[in-house]
Amino acid sequence: MAKTFHPSALLFLVTITLSILNSEQQRIQPTQSKALLTIQRLLNFPAVLSSWNSSTDFCSSDSKSSLTVVCYEGTITQLNIVGEQVRASLLPKTFSVDSFVTALVKFPTLKVLTLVSLGIWGPLPAKIARLSSLEILNLSSNFLYGAVPPELSSLSHLQTLILDDNMFASHLPDWLDSFPALTVLSLKTNSFNGSLPDSLGQLENLRVLSLSHNQFHGPVPDLSRLANLEVLELDDNAFGPDFPKLGSKLVSLVLRNNKFRSNIPDEVSSYYQLERFDISSNSFVGPFQLQLLSLPSITYLNISGNRLTGMLYDNISCNSELQAVDLSSNLLVGSLPKCLVSNSNGRTVRYARNCLEETDQDQHESSFCHTEAIAVGILLPERKRHRRVSKAILSSVIVCGILGVVAVLALIFFMVRRGNSKRKVKNPTTKLISENAAVASGYTTKLQSDARYVSQTMKFGSVGLPPYRAYSLEEIELATNNFDSARFMGEGSQGQMYRGQLRDGSLVAIRCVKMTKSFSTQDFMHYIELISKYRHLHLVSALGHCFECYLDDSSVSRIFLVFEYVPNGTLKSWISDGHYRKSLSWTQRIAAAIGVAKGIEFLHAGLVPAAFSNNIKITDVLLDQNFVAKISSYNLPLLSNIVKIGSGNLSIGFRSPSFKQSLKHEDKSDIYDFGVILLELILGRTIKPRNVDTLKDLLQASITTNDEARRSIVDPAIGKVCLDESLKTVMEVCVRCVAKDPSERPSIEDVLWNLQFAAQVQDAWRVDSQSQSSDGSSISTPLASPPMNFH
Ligand SMILES: *[C@@H]1O[C@H](CO)[C@@H](O)[C@H](O)[C@H]1NC(C)=O
Ligand SMILES: *[C@@H]1O[C@H](CO)[C@@H](O)[C@H](O)[C@H]1NC(C)=O
Ligand SMILES: *[C@@H]1O[C@H](CO)[C@@H](O)[C@H](O)[C@H]1NC(C)=O
Ligand SMILES: *[C@@H]1O[C@H](CO)[C@@H](O)[C@H](O)[C@H]1NC(C)=O
Ligand SMILES: *[C@@H]1O[C@H](CO)[C@@H](O)[C@H](O)[C@H]1NC(C)=O
Repeated sequence: MAKTFHPSALLFLVTITLSILNSEQQRIQPTQSKALLTIQRLLNFPAVLSSWNSSTDFCSSDSKSSLTVVCYEGTITQLNIVGEQVRASLLPKTFSVDSFVTALVKFPTLKVLTLVSLGIWGPLPAKIARLSSLEILNLSSNFLYGAVPPELSSLSHLQTLILDDNMFASHLPDWLDSFPALTVLSLKTNSFNGSLPDSLGQLENLRVLSLSHNQFHGPVPDLSRLANLEVLELDDNAFGPDFPKLGSKLVSLVLRNNKFRSNIPDEVSSYYQLERFDISSNSFVGPFQLQLLSLPSITYLNISGNRLTGMLYDNISCNSELQAVDLSSNLLVGSLPKCLVSNSNGRTVRYARNCLEETDQDQHESSFCHTEAIAVGILLPERKRHRRVSKAILSSVIVCGILGVVAVLALIFFMVRRGNSKRKVKNPTTKLISENAAVASGYTTKLQSDARYVSQTMKFGSVGLPPYRAYSLEEIELATNNFDSARFMGEGSQGQMYRGQLRDGSLVAIRCVKMTKSFSTQDFMHYIELISKYRHLHLVSALGHCFECYLDDSSVSRIFLVFEYVPNGTLKSWISDGHYRKSLSWTQRIAAAIGVAKGIEFLHAGLVPAAFSNNIKITDVLLDQNFVAKISSYNLPLLSNIVKIGSGNLSIGFRSPSFKQSLKHEDKSDIYDFGVILLELILGRTIKPRNVDTLKDLLQASITTNDEARRSIVDPAIGKVCLDESLKTVMEVCVRCVAKDPSERPSIEDVLWNLQFAAQVQDAWRVDSQSQSSDGSSISTPLASPPMNFH
């Protein structure tokens, strides 16, 4: 039928149309023209309405962009009034938005209403919903405040709702799905808050969604059903953390300045209509999709201020229509694509603060991008849990998963064997059994060949500690309240320390070590095995570990080491250093020194391979609730190797087993450091390295003079109560420890023997002096008795 459409039929249609147009031109109903004049008065006679008077023919007046009145059969269907200033000043106090809307609803056939920049103020009255034919409502740049009245939801023909640049403050109503025809929703620059209702995802006709400059937060609801969505502007809110789920017809996507911190999904590179892509000023991580540069429609690309990674090549192609490309402040490496270098047709290209080879815009060292890229690894496991992942990522998940299982199995295997050996050790029988157990537990041949070490290892019990185990990332996050800054304890060369509380309530300290090179979990199993052996009453012992790996290549991004938490501060804080209130007694000082010495003895003799050169300072010794001293920073092979690797040396291995031949006095550097701690305990203050020699000479001299001279140089807090014999013994061993020639320094066993002797003398004297009220000036009995066994 349509094919045989007769010309006369067409003519007929044209005639009808003309007659309709003609009837539109007819004069407006008097009530409506009265209402228009009321509106003019209520708006305080704005300049834009200066032509209006009682004799104005409203319907046949020329329409301008600032003033349009369209009539149909004597009633107004469209009213556009746009104030002349960008943002008019507030209408006077006498203005009543209620009266104003009352005048408006005299036009029940109104389909288009635009009232922009007129200084209208007040809450939007609910009766505006009486304009039931309304299809387009634009009330931008006024001073409307409060909530959007729920009655608005009855406007079932509404296609465009624009309330930009007002002062609306409320949640976005969840009755939005009652506007099935809505195509444009623009609420820019208001104070809307809360999170977005899921009903937004039902507005299947939505073409433009603009919520910029509000106080929205939280996730963006799933918008993937909005097949017509072309413009999504969410900038300057607090949306996040995940990239929104969207249809593929987007033309403009603006997520600038929010709290997004996920990866950019691969789908984005299939948005073939995309012209504007602005995700700047967020915390997006993961690879930057190079295909974005060559999308067929792209003209504006801004990814600045994120943590996107990836390698740029000079042969990458890009869309020649690109007007602006801003890659600055990311973690990109490589060289800028040639197509961007040639600065054709006034294109803006920014790429500062990456690690690119170009130097004309500020760049970081490439190590910066590498380290930072690793630091953002924490997000990847979340992605694994919450997101549909692409094939490539999925396969790497599987690989990592397999490796993880291997690692866990290895660990379980190790721990089971360890558990067995422990159980056997507990048998109160002979030395032979404990040695066999040690052999069975798979210690190295070096250890097997030296039974003394084995028995020693077994004897130094790791008293009262829970068994070593692997922790999950969730446990670590929970324990540290997701690395809450309030839990941050400090940062050293060996990573950051956080205080944590495990689910069972026990306090722990968690060290977080970031990897600067790529290693698999397997590479670390040997070290984990070692760390699990660093458990001793006088060491801050490791309770377990946790690996966090990257999804893409399953390499380790961070290791968390869980240590026991030692609550009573450092040994340094307990020597007087000028203030006497909180200071250890002489007996407690000797006990602490003995603890440190026992810790060192364990590090030297209780472990294979031994840990020498631990660089122990008085600030590295912590006291627990019973004033038991624990060494907190010892030369963990894992950590010292990572530190080494960090400085460019990629040998992941610890000292060669022949260290005893090659480094004759390696154990003596710890003795020296211990001597310095003793010196500090005696003198009651911390000592600068360059002063050690002088003070040693002073001590030396005082040993050979008299009791009084000795007491005059020691910490006044202990000078009066320490027994001279005890003090002298400690001074003597101290002087020997800080000897210049390492071979003159005593062995740790020698040190321990002397300290325990000093403790016993002091103890016996104290008991004596309490029972006999002795003045303690001379005591001789305990000298005969041998010191207690130091094992
Ligand atoms: C109304 O305005 C027109 C011009 O816009 C003017 O010619 C006419 O005189 C005015 N009528 C009255 C009554 O003010
Ligand atoms: C609302 O109306 C004003 C004035 O006509 C116009 O400049 C603005 O673009 C409109 N808003 C939208 C989102 O179309
Ligand atoms: C949102 O704004 C309203 C009005 O200012 C306020 O009462 C409400 O507490 C805000 N809600 C949130 C979650 O900030
Ligand atoms: C990219 O975004 C940042 C931050 O939002 C802005 O400062 C910068 O001017 C933008 N770059 C371009 C080329 O528009
Ligand atoms: C671009 O260069 C990279 C490295 O130089 C190379 O791997 C890649 O195949 C090249 N691509 C094209 C399309 O030439």
